[in-house]
Amino acid sequence: MGAEALTATPADPRERIAGLEAELAVTNSEVLSLVLDMDERVEERTAELGAAQEELQRTNSELLQLTLELENRVAARTAELAAANAALRDEVTRRREAEEEVRSLNADLERRVEERTAELAAVNKELESFAYSVSHDLRAPLRGIDGWSQALLEDCGHLLDDQGNGYLATVRSEVRRMSQLIDALLRLSRVTRTEIRLEQVDLSELARAVECELRVAHPDRSVEVAIALGLTAVGDVVLLRALARNLLGNAWKFTGQCQQARIEFGATLDAGTTTYFVRDNGVGFDMAHASRLFAPFQRLHRAEEFPGTGIGLATVQRSVARHGGRIWAEGVPEAGATFYFVLGGGNGG
Ligand SMILES: Nc1ncnc2c1ncn2[C@@H]1O[C@H](COP(=O)(O)OP(=O)(O)OP(=O)(O)O)[C@@H](O)[C@H]1O
Ligand SMILES: [Mg+2]
Repeated sequence: MGAEALTATPADPRERIAGLEAELAVTNSEVLSLVLDMDERVEERTAELGAAQEELQRTNSELLQLTLELENRVAARTAELAAANAALRDEVTRRREAEEEVRSLNADLERRVEERTAELAAVNKELESFAYSVSHDLRAPLRGIDGWSQALLEDCGHLLDDQGNGYLATVRSEVRRMSQLIDALLRLSRVTRTEIRLEQVDLSELARAVECELRVAHPDRSVEVAIALGLTAVGDVVLLRALARNLLGNAWKFTGQCQQARIEFGATLDAGTTTYFVRDNGVGFDMAHASRLFAPFQRLHRAEEFPGTGIGLATVQRSVARHGGRIWAEGVPEAGATFYFVLGGGNGG
């Protein structure tokens, strides 16, 4: 606008002055308005800056507050962790001490068990050899009694009446019985004294041989014998043969009064363990007395009905124990009996 005014220059200087004054007035008012505008903006900006500074201060103090809080919490947490660590250390120490104590108690216990076992084994061995030598030594005087009573019978029998001869016969039969008991004791003793030799044993074959022996010894008996095929075990053949003789012999004997005697030898396999069994349908027994079955000289039936010394099952139990196994029985009076046994590690079906 000023440039236009300057290009259209009036000729009259007064007019020019008036024009210039008017222009100046306009410019002045513009400058004034600009200055006012500037003032206003400066004020606004100053107010804005003040507000921003206040905000900044507030934020700063908040930050400071937060930092303090955080520091406090970190300190508290650190103290808690330190306490927990100390407690944990205490606990670990206590446990280690307790473990040490248990270990030492266990070692002590093991040592005492070992000592006790060794003592018991020694006492057992002593008792065994005592029983063995007593049984052995009793045989000679017994043979003497038998020999002298026979001499008495032969040389002086005619001097005695029937009653005297009867007494002498009883003496001789009691001597025979005592001799059988001593033999049985020696057999029992041998089971624990002899060295055990492990090998693969065909139990079915062993049972079949025992069956033959029984049939030859008792041709009058008619007994059905069922023997499962292919039963084997790792064991001592001498001990296992004695076991088969006793168990099958018992089954044979205690079915003596049966119309249709039946004996079964078999096995079951459960979770890798083979359980062998000998079952019969004979006279059976009362389970209330089952715990006595395996003790030496314990008999559940009368000798007049079923002869025997009561040593067979004790022998069987020792044989099984020497193989690291166990034996148990189930019976029902007049309805038969089953003898189960397992042999320790390494036996197959
Ligand atoms: N299969 C069976 N059925 C019923 N009872 C049995 C059977 N086997 C054993 N018993 C009972 O257990 C007792 C002990 O048996 P064990 O074999 O030790 O002695 P035993 O056969 O009488 O005599 P031994 O075997 O010394 O000749 C027997 O007298 C009998 O009462
Ligand atoms: Mg027997």
